Amino acid sequence: MIKTDLSDLALFGGAPAFNEMLHVGRPNVGDRQQLLTRINDMLDRRWLSNNGPFVQELEEKLATFLGVAHCIVICNATIALEIAARALGLKGEVILPSFTFVASAHALQWLEITPVFCDVDPLTHNIDPVMVERLITQRTSGIMGVHVWGRACAIEELGGIAKKHHLKLLFDAAHAFGSTHQGQMIGGFGDVEVFSFHATKFFNTFEGGAITTNNDELAQKIRRIRNFGFAGMDNVVDIGTNGKMSEASAAMGLTSLESLDKFIGINYNNYVAFSKGLYGIPGVQLIQYSEKEKNNYQYIVVEIDENTTGLSRDLLVKILHAENIRARRYFHPGCHQMEPYRSSFANNRLALSETENLTQKVLQLPTGTAVGEEEISRICELIHFVFVNGIKIRTELQSLEHNISDM
Ligand SMILES: Cc1ncc(COP(=O)(O)O)c(C=O)c1O
Repeated sequence: MIKTDLSDLALFGGAPAFNEMLHVGRPNVGDRQQLLTRINDMLDRRWLSNNGPFVQELEEKLATFLGVAHCIVICNATIALEIAARALGLKGEVILPSFTFVASAHALQWLEITPVFCDVDPLTHNIDPVMVERLITQRTSGIMGVHVWGRACAIEELGGIAKKHHLKLLFDAAHAFGSTHQGQMIGGFGDVEVFSFHATKFFNTFEGGAITTNNDELAQKIRRIRNFGFAGMDNVVDIGTNGKMSEASAAMGLTSLESLDKFIGINYNNYVAFSKGLYGIPGVQLIQYSEKEKNNYQYIVVEIDENTTGLSRDLLVKILHAENIRARRYFHPGCHQMEPYRSSFANNRLALSETENLTQKVLQLPTGTAVGEEEISRICELIHFVFVNGIKIRTELQSLEHNISDM
């Protein structure tokens, strides 16, 4: 139903725009029959984990797809980041953006490496290389760039800084599977790159991730660390962990891979539909993807400028949630505002004004195979309605809150 009156909004007692919840990152599932056939093969073989044939096949196919010498699949990206950091010998301090998912920082802190948070470029949402250089100290051992929304961060600039200061360079590419930088697939940059194949990512293995590198020696070390540090039967040579991917996850990955073009096509069409639907709302800006690069278009990210709209991002989220549109604030409130970093942030050296600004503005809307043009057009109409009536909505809410406090 099209909303024409404030009382039509679910927040004020109207019927929600959607009966079923629309989620950000609802999982994509490829050809179900293919997946079940693979799961049956796996059960017949009774080879469920420990570098099974599906894991090997997936690693080979991913390395070819990404144009990289080595792809080591891992049980998830958080463990993959930890393994990568250990394999690179990171210690002391590592510089990374605060505007990322908290797993990027936790993976370092888990190894007792201090994450030093850097601000971002407000245009790209990616780490600001100028500030990176100012944060380098005697204790710095590496830089972790994050390709936020699958848009490559400043790879060349960070590479130059890492080289100049003899630092390791890794990329959290959790968002960037299928994206390119200057025509080259993300995956082969820096010392290592780390992908997430979590269920909410456009390419998923239920839970999963991968480390990619062109360094043969490093790849061997990563493989050992993934498997408890074993270098052959009964011979442990490193501190290892259990980072193995199961065969069931690899079966899902092989199946997802066969539908990759379809998933990207749907995401792209959804992105175009959102661009058209949100066009012309003052203060509402959908992020842009370069037409010159490949992207997976998994992230429908909108910046809400409250000074222009007159209505905050947080209030919009509240309204959308009531309508069963589970829009998400990202990466709110920023890693440096989360524990244990919040308490130790006094140790950090520079203010993160762009990050703090962005975490108040950014909103992610539902997309993927679970959402089509019909839903998108209704979401956009609703957002138009909300902002056209922004002042009235705020006044109505204030009087409701006033009445409640009087009771
Ligand atoms: C930027 C970033 N890094 C790391 C991760 C952790 O990935 P996983 O859930 O596979 O451990 C995520 C997950 O959403 C992420 O968005």
